[in-house]
Amino acid sequence: MTTRRNKRANDPDTHRVAVIGAGYVGLPTAATLAHFGHHVVLAERDVERLAALRSGRMPIVEAGLDELVAEGVGTGALRFSASSTEAVVGADFVFLCVPTPQGDDGSADLSYVEAAAKEIGALLEPGTIVVNKSTVPVGSATFVERIIGRPDVRVVSNPEFLREGSAVRDSLHPDRLVVGAADAHAAAMVGGLFASTGAPLIVTDATTSETIKYASNAFLATKLSYVNAVAGLCEELGADVRDVMLGLGYDKRIGFDFLRPGPGWGGSCLPKDTRALLHIAQEAGYDFSLLAGAIASNEQQLARVVAKVEAACGGSVEGATVGVWGLTFKANTDDRRDSPSLQVAHRLADLGARVQAFDPTVTADGGDEAASGPDDLRGLLLCTDPYEAATGAAAVAVLTEWDEFRWLDFSRVHSVMAKPAIVDARNLLDPAATRRLGFSYAGIGRR
Ligand code: UDX
Repeated sequence: MTTRRNKRANDPDTHRVAVIGAGYVGLPTAATLAHFGHHVVLAERDVERLAALRSGRMPIVEAGLDELVAEGVGTGALRFSASSTEAVVGADFVFLCVPTPQGDDGSADLSYVEAAAKEIGALLEPGTIVVNKSTVPVGSATFVERIIGRPDVRVVSNPEFLREGSAVRDSLHPDRLVVGAADAHAAAMVGGLFASTGAPLIVTDATTSETIKYASNAFLATKLSYVNAVAGLCEELGADVRDVMLGLGYDKRIGFDFLRPGPGWGGSCLPKDTRALLHIAQEAGYDFSLLAGAIASNEQQLARVVAKVEAACGGSVEGATVGVWGLTFKANTDDRRDSPSLQVAHRLADLGARVQAFDPTVTADGGDEAASGPDDLRGLLLCTDPYEAATGAAAVAVLTEWDEFRWLDFSRVHSVMAKPAIVDARNLLDPAATRRLGFSYAGIGRR
């Protein structure tokens, strides 16, 4: 973590900032802005979440977040408020970090953004800059401007590119900053809040800035669909996808990031944003068949992983016990939204498997069926550890890349399983070592 720049209240680079929404985006954003020396009020209307924050408990799993929040609270740079109307009083900048869930037609649902903008509009100081941080459809800056209805308030698009699990690091050290508005000066002012990051700043119009966010996430999704498709081809050819990706990654134009094959891409952003971009393209009359293909290919990937588990169980999972390791959409987060791991687990259950699942972030009380637990876990038998999940199983599927799965006692796993078969949908384990122990092993794109 970088050293905090100590600033006085009358420092011209220090601003009063309100952040609306203490979620995956708002919380790291607020803590980072406080770290940079700004005076930040973070508004959160969920009383439990607010109480947790006030007592120093983080409502999300994010490395380094508790320290950064504690630092801000300690220096007085970060305060919490139950009301956005209170938080925005006297603010120079107001960041909208409210959810933009997916609507029925694939487009982003702007109702939270709209409600927040309506609530604060009349209370803003003249000259306040409202910043759209949530991922919003192209044209939203104009939409928010209209709702606020104040010629003396400017709206700037400043999309976030944070990854869950490393949101603090990504906020402190962004690859780039994107700010877009009709008023380039207002956009540059927003960029100035993050000046100490030293990140390249792209100042553009709001439409372009909003498009950059969707185009980035859709590109990442398309890259992964490509990687997963190449992995499928490698299986047919007898090639090893890991070496293929090594060969690709050394090409600087391709790079090593986002080259790991898996059960498909998911999470709160990639699926939502790719579908939203497809919707935006359709509305604009543009045939974005490449993106439609990337989405369809991701569906195929989930089906391919399910088929691998069926094959490991002798052709069908009906009536079979299947162990599932990992339910979150990626490791080092507790987020199961649009998780490919969870989707595979449910598909197996729908095919008649008894699914015994373990995930380090999901608490279970001894393998009880999660009938009364969260809806998304219904139909799965939650286990307290990976061995319990493997007990009596005809196959274990490794679905999320939690590092701890590498270091298990695989002799013990072997001894508790009904049939020692592993489907490693993250290529996490060593095929030779597991086979030596007597497992059958199926990875993704390798033998
Ligand atoms: C993503 C973008 O990376 C981020 O810039 C944006 O702000 C929000 O969306 P995040 O949702 O946190 O971030 O997840 P990310 O790390 O990008 O992973 C997305 C999905 O791709 C996960 O399901 C992950 O398991 C999968 N993935 C990622 C792979 O299967 N292989 C990889 O090599 C990388």
